[in-house]
Amino acid sequence: MDYAARITGTGSAFPETRMTNDDIALKLTEVGLKTSDQWIRERTGIVERRISDVNNSAEHNSSLGERAAQMALEMAGRKPDDIDQIIYATCSPDTIIPATACWLQSKIKAHNAWAMDINAACSGFVYGTVIAEQFIRTGRSKTVLVIGAEVLSQFVNWHDRTICILFGDGAGAAIVERESAKSPQRIISSHLVSDGRLSELLHVPAGGSNMEITPERYARSMHKMRMNGKEIFKVAVRTLTECALRSLEQWGMRVDRLDWFVPHQANLRIIEAVANRLGLPMDRVVVNLDRFGNTSAATIPTALDEAIRDGRIQPGQTVLVDAFGAGLTAGGFLFRW
Ligand code: ACO
Repeated sequence: MDYAARITGTGSAFPETRMTNDDIALKLTEVGLKTSDQWIRERTGIVERRISDVNNSAEHNSSLGERAAQMALEMAGRKPDDIDQIIYATCSPDTIIPATACWLQSKIKAHNAWAMDINAACSGFVYGTVIAEQFIRTGRSKTVLVIGAEVLSQFVNWHDRTICILFGDGAGAAIVERESAKSPQRIISSHLVSDGRLSELLHVPAGGSNMEITPERYARSMHKMRMNGKEIFKVAVRTLTECALRSLEQWGMRVDRLDWFVPHQANLRIIEAVANRLGLPMDRVVVNLDRFGNTSAATIPTALDEAIRDGRIQPGQTVLVDAFGAGLTAGGFLFRW
């Protein structure tokens, strides 16, 4: 029997606290830096983002993942016991050991599953879904929970105005299930790439096994993200366009037949440049970064969930998702909802 993989449910969750651009401008004034709502809107398209209160366990990474997972299970009509595999995409885990996937497994009581984290930064949800698809197609898994969730506000350098304006916290989830290979509703094609030569464009120097966080390194914010925004911008436009075209080509699909494009939400100008290169009008592009900023691995599943729940994405429609992130990692997949 040949199998295909189908997305049958999605969910999303965000922390309660909204941080507007004006809030950030005020916060930066306290450390002698300037920014403005106008600058952030014009350069990024972001208006506000959500920030987790890490003293509140309900807003930990795995707790946001738990809420998103419950919504996805409900939409798919599945119970936690049905899940046989959990893939948790995050680069801001609850803990280094154990995997956030295991914290989540315990919270949602998915005791029949095996669980693992993957770190592909902002491409994590795309990588995770394609991994789920492969396990399903070989017959090894039947019902996979894929989560993309981040509390990146903990890794943002609040003294660097080029970074702290961009990121927000949140979680998105999808249930990916075994389907007959003949089913029209399935994951149709995918394309994954990475280029480790570009690792330094966005990285956190300290906190891994090769550099512990000493007081001196802490004072220099070496445990926070460092980013070459200008270079990432250029690479992002190129790789997102390439991954989108490759995913379409594999299925021989013309871009004008595509119903929806759900790209990684890093900067509205990047999204518009990619849509323009693909020849896609913006009314077929799902955008949520104005309200949530860049939530890294969570951008695509949260945007997808919003567009499915508000009825923009209809059963039978074809959707292309497309991501890039630190690594550099990138990838896209095409599916029929
Ligand atoms: N407020 C006000 N001024 C600012 C700010 C700010 N927050 N940040 C930078 N500036 C200033 C700069 O100092 C510079 O001033 P100067 O001209 O006097 O030197 C000017 O604004 C222009 O700076 P640029 O860096 O050229 O601004 P740019 O238009 O490139 O926008 C940004 C910067 C928003 C970071 C953009 O490069 C970007 O979005 N890059 C991609 C970043 C990204 O996607 N990162 C995450 C990807 S990977 C992942 O998702 C995990």
